[in-house]
Amino acid sequence: MAYKPLMVAILAATVQAAPDSRTFAVLHFYGDGPLMEGRVDPIVSPGVTASHVHTIQGGSNFGISATGEDLMNSSCSSALVEGDNSAYWFPKLYFHDKINDTVEPVDLYYANVYYFFEPTDDDVVAFPVGLQMTSGDASLRDCPNFYGSLQLDAGNSSGIQPVQWTCPRSSYEPASWEWASESNGSAAGIQDQGNQGAGQGFPFAECDGEYSPLRQDTHFPSCYDPSKDLTDYKNNMVFPTVNYTSGKQNCPAGFIHVPHLFFESYWNTPAFADRWTPDSGYQPFTLSNGDLTGCSSHGDFMAAWDTTVLQNIIDTCDAGDSGMDLCPGVTARNRSSTCNVASPIDEDIYNNLTVLPGNNPMSGWGMSFGGDDSGDVSATIAASITSAAVSGASGVVSSAPSVLTATPDVESSTATSSDLAVAVGAASFTSSVTATAPALPVETSSSSGGDSSSALTTNVESAPTDTATSAASAAATTLVKQCKKKRDSSSHDHAKAHMARHQGSGSH
Ligand SMILES: *[C@@H]1O[C@H](CO)[C@@H](O)[C@H](O)[C@H]1NC(C)=O
Ligand SMILES: *[C@@H]1O[C@H](CO)[C@@H](O)[C@H](O)[C@H]1NC(C)=O
Ligand SMILES: *[C@@H]1O[C@H](CO)[C@@H](O)[C@H](O)[C@H]1NC(C)=O
Ligand SMILES: *[C@@H]1O[C@H](CO)[C@@H](O)[C@H](O)[C@H]1NC(C)=O
Ligand SMILES: *[C@@H]1O[C@H](CO)[C@@H](O)[C@H](O)[C@H]1NC(C)=O
Ligand SMILES: *[C@@H]1O[C@H](CO)[C@@H](O)[C@H](O)[C@H]1NC(C)=O
Ligand SMILES: *[C@@H]1O[C@H](CO)[C@@H](O)[C@H](O)[C@H]1NC(C)=O
Repeated sequence: MAYKPLMVAILAATVQAAPDSRTFAVLHFYGDGPLMEGRVDPIVSPGVTASHVHTIQGGSNFGISATGEDLMNSSCSSALVEGDNSAYWFPKLYFHDKINDTVEPVDLYYANVYYFFEPTDDDVVAFPVGLQMTSGDASLRDCPNFYGSLQLDAGNSSGIQPVQWTCPRSSYEPASWEWASESNGSAAGIQDQGNQGAGQGFPFAECDGEYSPLRQDTHFPSCYDPSKDLTDYKNNMVFPTVNYTSGKQNCPAGFIHVPHLFFESYWNTPAFADRWTPDSGYQPFTLSNGDLTGCSSHGDFMAAWDTTVLQNIIDTCDAGDSGMDLCPGVTARNRSSTCNVASPIDEDIYNNLTVLPGNNPMSGWGMSFGGDDSGDVSATIAASITSAAVSGASGVVSSAPSVLTATPDVESSTATSSDLAVAVGAASFTSSVTATAPALPVETSSSSGGDSSSALTTNVESAPTDTATSAASAAATTLVKQCKKKRDSSSHDHAKAHMARHQGSGSH
């Protein structure tokens, strides 16, 4: 493949110090659920209600008009590293029940943010406070064809493709992508040719790998143009250009090379496993903006770092998956506490929904399948909007989402010993294979997809899905389900601890 030379170059370079080789550190989050969920987006919709629901991690001063300076003043943050009050957000996932035409929230299982420090001739510097950036395109309803891969090289005239969905499975028969009648790969649902566990658009399959429910992946550009305002998010960032000879990724002259952010967000899709039938031509998950294809996945970032702390991490730390909280000089926040803030938008985004919050009509795969024709779809949407208007008029009171309920201490736990056995069993399995859900598509074969950064995966052990036993797989899937059911017990603390160490906090 075209990327082989780069991979070899990076491998050869791993013995050298940064910036000749890429280093990275994963920012974990802690606490009960994300910081906030709601129609809030101070970058794209400052001062007003956003068009769709986001799941937000980061500093407690987040809100519809939040700036970087505001975030700096946060009283807490869901990020585990002290000194980081930045905000990280992405569209929330919902489940569309086709039978009664309702939507239900899918809980965030947990999320991580990778800070990659590129092999580069540039100086990599901390994000300036207040830098705003976005990645991905919320308006897409089909996937631009990049053969299912990422494309992060600004030097490639095909353009940038920064988002994927990852769906590790215990078996890839049938494939996650490409076989369903509405996903022939021509427009959406495209398998990454270098990684059958990843692709563009939602997969038409249940993600049943270990600790690996459906994962939303978003890469951000890392070159800031200082001639543009920090808030000029449409124009202020570009991706670096990859030099396939040197393996370096450099920014254009005059740009500031900041860390390469990668959001990975795991959704508790196994909770809906018995509610839909894979391979039936219907894919039930929708982004909060109504996108049933998944192609419009995107993310937002607003920087509010103590730049001294971040610069020190950039310059000295290669903690990898173990976590940025283990970097020298870094203080971890209190994992036993929690930082949650209610959405300032007074609406129920969780219960008894007949339409997505904001009345975003659903479109994409599945809406014209199984007897519905497009006329039916419009009628359904119209009826749903009316019904939402009615429930709005009756005054739905915003209630605290279940994800924000406090975790009782051990004494009040209702966990049974069998729950614990499942949790511990699954956790030890994870621990024994050491590999975790990969930061980037794992390629155990020689190909490396379209992501120049996939060279990094040569440092990552093979994915657990490759070596999985079905028993362990079942245990992990059970755990995911129990995580939802028993979020207010401590039965999964043991597993959580492992996950926190290997993958991120158990923010579920
Ligand atoms: C941050 O907090 C300090 C001290 O409370 C205050 O003086 C300052 O105005 C605040 N800044 C912002 C942007 O809210
Ligand atoms: C829709 O159907 C599901 C079961 O398929 C059920 O759990 C849910 O409560 C139903 N919602 C409504 C509003 O009836
Ligand atoms: C540019 O990106 C396209 C689309 O992902 C890919 O097929 C092609 O191989 C890339 N070209 C180079 C030179 O890397
Ligand atoms: C794939 O599906 C698209 C959209 O339905 C259609 O236009 C195209 O002809 C199909 N391609 C193949 C190879 O079946
Ligand atoms: C790419 O790197 C090689 C080796 O360091 C160097 O000779 C070449 O000039 C670089 N190419 C560009 C376009 O910078
Ligand atoms: C951590 O948070 C927990 C829960 O709020 C609290 O009981 C504990 O005292 C805190 N620990 C420290 C060291 O602050
Ligand atoms: C949702 O609907 C159920 C059944 O009609 C009702 O018991 C419940 O109170 C409703 N929840 C909210 C938050 O409106």
